[in-house]
Amino acid sequence: MKRYLFYLLALECLLLGLYACREKVSKEPGPDQRVTNEQAPPSDLKYSDTLFVQFGRNAISVEPTVNGSRPMIFELVNVTDNRFSINSQTGQITVRGGVPAGTYSLSVKATNAKASYIKNNALVVVVWTIVPSRVEYSPSFVVVDSGTAYVTAAPTTNASQVTYRIQNRSEVPAGIVIDSLTGIIRFPDTLRSNIYRIRLQLVNSAGAFSRTDAFILVVRPRGYTPGAYPTWTWEIRPILARRGCTNCHITRGHITGIGTDYQALVNKHQEVMKRITIPAWEPFIMPPPAEGYDPLTPEEIQTFRKWAEGGFLR
Ligand code: HEC
Repeated sequence: MKRYLFYLLALECLLLGLYACREKVSKEPGPDQRVTNEQAPPSDLKYSDTLFVQFGRNAISVEPTVNGSRPMIFELVNVTDNRFSINSQTGQITVRGGVPAGTYSLSVKATNAKASYIKNNALVVVVWTIVPSRVEYSPSFVVVDSGTAYVTAAPTTNASQVTYRIQNRSEVPAGIVIDSLTGIIRFPDTLRSNIYRIRLQLVNSAGAFSRTDAFILVVRPRGYTPGAYPTWTWEIRPILARRGCTNCHITRGHITGIGTDYQALVNKHQEVMKRITIPAWEPFIMPPPAEGYDPLTPEEIQTFRKWAEGGFLR
């Protein structure tokens, strides 16, 4: 009997406990239930504005507006270019420099506890380009032995969608070709010993730009070894080309032909030494710093000096 009573009591307790639990649930809803009541799938995702980006720059979009319960995770859909990225928490889209000029429609996937949803063409990104104003080969001056082919690296430029061409086409052998899309220049192994200077033109939808001596290749006779004294042809001339003297001091221009003419340079040697050795802050230093040229190095100046000592070898 005592035993039965005990069991009865236990059962009663259990039932009471269960009841109390139920009461609690229905009277004051817990946090879990609140979420369940208000859960809504993501919908109506929108960015208020098109994102305009100048080529080469970084840009970040506004946060999108979107309906639906939080937390929500945002992802880009079908984007393989990792220069586009999205902040998974805020939905802001970042475009990093280097994306080619053009218009891009980005689709975004929003996911919450209830559902996933894809908004096609959620954000339009317009990358616009500027007129090219800079171009750089690295290196931009190379010396090879004759019989050697040479291929440049692709140049860097500050503009997008650029087409490259050799502007001084008539001055360079036809065997020298340029890839118009990359700017890579190929010099064949058949070039005779000489200095080949490339005047490069860049064109895109915004405009055009050209650069004299954008790339210079010196093809020296095979097995050439410098003698005790420098020569005009293989030591002085490359310096003149590399340092822009050839560019400005043309043979029959309003300034002297010291850049291209052996005799003119010999005749002007004293003046040249003066101009390349005066301190950089003095006016009249050559090449002119105001035009963006650096002063000659001590080694280059020494080459000019030794050239005179050796009797101006040709
Ligand atoms: C950006 C163009 C430019 C470059 C590059 C340049 N020069 Fe000149 N150079 C000038 C101009 C313009 C003058 C005339 C004005 C003057 O005398 O400063 C001149 C004058 C000179 C003169 C004196 C004029 C004469 O004929 O007696 C010498 C010598 C000279 N340059 C040497 C050089 C040498 C060497 C280099 C290369 C290391 C060089 N220049 C690079 C533009 C240039």
